[in-house]
Amino acid sequence: MATVFVFLLTIVSGVFSEHTKLEWTDCGTDPAYFTINKVDVSPMPIEVPGDIALTVGAVSNKTVTQGDIKISVKRHTFIGDITIPCLFHVGSCEYKDTCTLLDRMEKENWAGIMGGIGTQVRGLLSSIGITSFCNIQARSLDVQSYKLKLPPIPSILSFFAEGDYSAHVTATEAASGHQVACLDLKLSIKKHKDKTCTGWFCGRRRDLH
Ligand SMILES: *[C@@H]1O[C@H](CO)[C@@H](O)[C@H](O)[C@H]1NC(C)=O
Repeated sequence: MATVFVFLLTIVSGVFSEHTKLEWTDCGTDPAYFTINKVDVSPMPIEVPGDIALTVGAVSNKTVTQGDIKISVKRHTFIGDITIPCLFHVGSCEYKDTCTLLDRMEKENWAGIMGGIGTQVRGLLSSIGITSFCNIQARSLDVQSYKLKLPPIPSILSFFAEGDYSAHVTATEAASGHQVACLDLKLSIKKHKDKTCTGWFCGRRRDLH
């Protein structure tokens, strides 16, 4: 029993190569709709909780109406890649209807954190002049080091632990099912270590001073 437990722990805390830069590849974005030139996230590894700066350079060449987004997330472990499930609308999930996606994220506050993230994404989009996820006109989409605050990962999402991940993200036009964008991402997540001392031992040491 204990052996099994230790084995599982080894898997979970297993390989951690730590990406120091977001790796991204275009896996089939339709240039008639979008051209993705640049995607970056810093710091890498991403520290949670913590701030990230997001940079995106893309051009849309055609008005995209209602779409669907599908995300598949894999975690790299000792025994291979494990697909992260979709729990509380976080993980490997399909998000139908981009028109109302942000509204639903905010209203339903998925996993207790996605409401705040939805509000920040709304701010990001409005900073480049997009106030609706419906009918995004042909235009350039330039996001330069936009700061987003990542909250602590709630315990219900504890499978999103420190480690290396890959994500496959596709967007399709809802009406036709036509794939308009595809991104493969590789990144690492790291737990933010609080530098202030709060433990029992720290308290004791402070008492001795
Ligand atoms: C962008 O749109 C224009 C007009 O709709 C079209 O002629 C052109 O071929 C498109 N560009 C690409 C890369 O598909």
